[in-house]
Amino acid sequence: MKHFISIKDLADPKKAVQTALALKKQGSNLDHSMTADKVLCLLFFNNSLRTRLSTERAAMYLGMKVMVMQISDTGWALEFEDGVIMNADKAEHVKEAAAVVSQYADVIGIRAFPTLTDKEADLEERVLRAFARYATVPVLSLEGATEHPLQALADAMTIEEHRTVSRPKVVLSWAPHVRTLPHAVANSFVLMMQRQEVDLVLTYPKEYALDPEVVGNSKVTHQQEEAFEGADFVYVKNWSSFEPYGQTPKVIDDFTITAAKLQAAKFMHCLPIRRNVVAEDAVLDGSNSLVIQQANNRTYSALWAIRELLTAAK
Ligand code: CP
Repeated sequence: MKHFISIKDLADPKKAVQTALALKKQGSNLDHSMTADKVLCLLFFNNSLRTRLSTERAAMYLGMKVMVMQISDTGWALEFEDGVIMNADKAEHVKEAAAVVSQYADVIGIRAFPTLTDKEADLEERVLRAFARYATVPVLSLEGATEHPLQALADAMTIEEHRTVSRPKVVLSWAPHVRTLPHAVANSFVLMMQRQEVDLVLTYPKEYALDPEVVGNSKVTHQQEEAFEGADFVYVKNWSSFEPYGQTPKVIDDFTITAAKLQAAKFMHCLPIRRNVVAEDAVLDGSNSLVIQQANNRTYSALWAIRELLTAAK
C-alpha cells in the first residue's frame, strides 16, 4: 500500500482488521526496529480531537517522532491548480510544499475536509491526491473530502471485537444535525462493510442518498424502523445531500436515535456527536454504546496503517 487515502487502497480489508487487532494485543511490546528512527508529520487543514491524538499515540507505540502543524492557521495558503499565475492569495504551490515536507518526514498524514460546494474538487480528493502526487513519501488520510479510512478500519475492528454471531446485521443510519457535514465517514464505512462478513443495510431519507458509486448494490431503505429490525450494530452519522451537492433539505421523518428504536443493537458513532440531536442521552450513556471503544481503536488502526506504509516504502 503506497498511500492510504481510500478503503479501496486496502489489498485485503479482512486481513487488515485481523492484523490491526493482533497489533492491539501486542500493545507496548511491539517491535520498533523498522519504525524507531522514522518521523511522522501531521498536517491539519481542519480541527480534530481523536485523529490527532490517536495518530500521535500510535506513533509513540512505534517509537516514532511526530511533527504536527495546523496548516490552515499557521501555514501558507496552498495552490493546487497547475499553470496558474499565483498573484492572488495563494502563497505556495502544493508541488513545493509536498516535496519539502517529504524531506522532513517518512509519512505525511493530512486532514482536508471537502468544500461541499465544489463537487468536482471534492470527488477527485484534490488536496490529498495532490500531496500524494508530489510527495516522495507515503500519504496517510486523516480524513479527506470523500473518505475517512482510519475511522472505518477502527469501526470494523470494533464490530469484530463485539460481534456475537458470525455474520452480524450492520445498519448505517443517517441522523439529523445542525450543520452541513461531509460524506467521508459514511462513505468509508459503507466501503469497508461491503468488504467484511456482514449483512449491510443503509437507511436515510430519500433526500440524503449517498454517492451511488459508493452505495453500489448495498441494500437501502428509507424506513429506519424496518432497517433496525434484528440489527446487531447500528452505525449512525449525519451527512449532507449528495445531489444536489452539500445541501441540508428538511426531513419530516424523525431519524434521531433513541434507545427504544435501537432495542438490543449496539450503537456506533465516530464522534464528535451532538447529544439529543443525533442520539438521545440514554443511547450514549447506555451499555450498548460502543463509541468510546471505537475511539480507542483509532490508535490501532493508525498504528497498522503507519506500519503498512513504512513497510511498502522500504
Ligand atoms: N472521529 C474523528 O475523526 O474524530 P476527530 O474529528 O475528533 O478527529
